Amino acid sequence: MKAVDRALAEAARSLAPGSDTARLDSELLMAEALGIDRDRLLLSPPDRPVPDRFWTMVERRKGGEPVAYITGRRAFWDIELHVGPGVLIPRPDSETLISAALAHFERRPPPGRILDLGTGPGTLLLAALDLWREATGLGVDASRRALSYAAANARRLGLDERTEWRLGDWAVGIEDCFDLILCNPPYVATEAALGSGVAEHEPAEALFAGPQGLDDYRRIAPQIARLLCPGGLAAIEIGADQERSAASIFRAQGLEPEVARDFGDRPRALLIEVNHK
Ligand SMILES: C[S@@+](CC[C@H](N)C(=O)[O-])C[C@H]1O[C@@H](n2cnc3c(N)ncnc32)[C@H](O)[C@@H]1O
Repeated sequence: MKAVDRALAEAARSLAPGSDTARLDSELLMAEALGIDRDRLLLSPPDRPVPDRFWTMVERRKGGEPVAYITGRRAFWDIELHVGPGVLIPRPDSETLISAALAHFERRPPPGRILDLGTGPGTLLLAALDLWREATGLGVDASRRALSYAAANARRLGLDERTEWRLGDWAVGIEDCFDLILCNPPYVATEAALGSGVAEHEPAEALFAGPQGLDDYRRIAPQIARLLCPGGLAAIEIGADQERSAASIFRAQGLEPEVARDFGDRPRALLIEVNHK
């Protein structure tokens, strides 16, 4: 057995008590330590010594630190984003918004202007700009740290000429209309229990939204109708148990949200179109 395979098995065993994804975690950390991607690690594990760095990273993971903060990166849709403490780690659930947008614009001309409210490290906007190569976009966040990650990610992905970043409070002060609005606001109830390491390591302002997790929907809902261009789509992420409660907030604004389900078949986004008369 190669040293790398032995180390992977040993690390996965030692991570298992604290992580549901111990084998995956150790593969991602090993790939990072060896400077190769995970596919390459799995298809042809290199026959070389295991760098000490690997064991340092395993120790950090045992302490509960998210893998993406240890490696400094996370894949999302077709792009890779750099992330670190102070910025939300992109989740696969949020890819529901991108797939809903793709389905919407299959039947229409591609979006020209895209708005990402609460952009974090640029997750949704950069994935969308990578798909629609003629589009330009605006990413808004209340966190300076998040915006500095977003701007650096845009530069690294060669998308910076089509992006603008704004420190702001949702869409306050934004007058333009957009063909696509993407928004993954904080939606966790203040008292909710989260997966291990999440509340300890990820920024509270990216996660929590009042006692029912609905406070930010109440702020965002009144802004959607004026921000959407004719034929446009707003895709707003929700918690799996917020289908009714979040939808009713948007309905109270005269909007008619539909629900998109994630890859696990749970409600994950409200999709809103506006028919301007
Ligand atoms: C759940 S995270 C989403 C990050 C990223 N869009 C993603 O999907 O990975 C929510 C983001 O909203 C930002 N945020 C919180 N309150 C805000 C506000 N009032 N205005 C703008 N952004 C806000 C947070 O800083 C955080 O980056």
